[in-house]
Amino acid sequence: MTILKEPQDTRLRRLAEQLETPLYVYDGDVIEDRYRLLTSCLPTGFEVFYSVKCNPLLGVCQLLRQLGSSVEVASAGELLVALEAGFQPQDIIWTSPGKTQRELTMAVDHGIYSINVESVEEARLIGSLAIERGTVVQVSARINPDFQPAGAGLKMTGVPSPFGIDQSLAVDALTEIAAMPGLSFIGLHVFTGSQVLDAGVLVRTMEKIIQLALELSAASGLSLQFLDLGGGFGIPYFPGEQAFDANQLRLELGELWYRFKDRLSGMRIGVESGRFLLAESGVFLAKVLYVKSCKGTKFVVCDGGSNQHASSAFLGRYVRNNFPMRLLDKGELETEEVNVVGPLCTPTDVIGQKVHLAPPESGDLLVVERSGAYGLTHSPVLFLSHPLPVEVLCYQGEELVLRERGIAENFLRGQQSFQQKEVERAIHV
Ligand SMILES: Cc1ncc(COP(=O)(O)O)c(C=O)c1O
Repeated sequence: MTILKEPQDTRLRRLAEQLETPLYVYDGDVIEDRYRLLTSCLPTGFEVFYSVKCNPLLGVCQLLRQLGSSVEVASAGELLVALEAGFQPQDIIWTSPGKTQRELTMAVDHGIYSINVESVEEARLIGSLAIERGTVVQVSARINPDFQPAGAGLKMTGVPSPFGIDQSLAVDALTEIAAMPGLSFIGLHVFTGSQVLDAGVLVRTMEKIIQLALELSAASGLSLQFLDLGGGFGIPYFPGEQAFDANQLRLELGELWYRFKDRLSGMRIGVESGRFLLAESGVFLAKVLYVKSCKGTKFVVCDGGSNQHASSAFLGRYVRNNFPMRLLDKGELETEEVNVVGPLCTPTDVIGQKVHLAPPESGDLLVVERSGAYGLTHSPVLFLSHPLPVEVLCYQGEELVLRERGIAENFLRGQQSFQQKEVERAIHV
């Protein structure tokens, strides 16, 4: 549907009325803007790999492909979405610590650009799949370095973690992997953490990764065609947090590249990003069902909660504070402290703890901002069997429902009915 220019809140109210709540609304123009901003900060030739895990909607992936992004997947489901979205195998990489044989087979059969292996054992398995098929598979090694990005919301390296090959074991591991039949060793991958807001930290981390890559390459005698510098590009969620300084990032990355470009020339260089590209594009909309007080605390009970927006309930701890939230069209009113909860029968279903909202009433619309990344995809959607929310993308004046609202019957799909008689027979045989 084509919609002429309309204030954002008018659009949200209209969509909530037309499509009902709970609802995710994404702004594709913001996604485009973020993508262009990020690429403008990178030296020429650097590539952005969209991390599907942050929002695996097919339509979102299609938009990013259309914008020129490559893609990073972490499961067979994400690979399927990426292929369906039209990404070419040479623009797909796969990073995740627990790839199954079935998943690796799929990656091998599709000939993706790089399977980023996280252990020697995984490489061996890929090698055997390659030999079975009479093919050669491109792999990179994910390294878990001894350093970590200062101030990151989530650190994945420098501490014991299941991600990648420990730096202290890397030279031997690379030598072993590169010698395996069926494999073509092409490069290195390092992802140190997420939600970094300091451009200087981002650049210094990339510098350490480049230095590490050059050291490992020299020590193992292996040349690199691909270097994935990870990312961790954050966004401000809370008052007092500031977006990273894009100009500083552009300038300092440019200088970094100038210093290293000769030694990295000819290499495909990538960064990965999910949160930065998506988070600010999306809002989660839920309807206030009831407002009640219990032992001195006011509760605002909504039709969607942590089952559909777990990050807002601090599940996962990427974000350690309340998401920015408000009641639609009540921005001018004085606020009061409330707990915003969802419909689940658990005290952890709190998507806003002691937040300040305008006086809530049933029928109000709650808007949780910055919810475009790690929203629905990061949520325990099976808990209490509520249908999945609708997800809508607004882009260049068009509105597209990218995921229809689920129905209760979906929860029965794939289940077998319990046949008492047959079970009894089986037990007594
Ligand atoms: C290997 C890897 N790449 C990319 C990402 C995406 O990070 P972000 O959404 O912060 O950009 C993650 C997030 O956990 C990750 O583990």
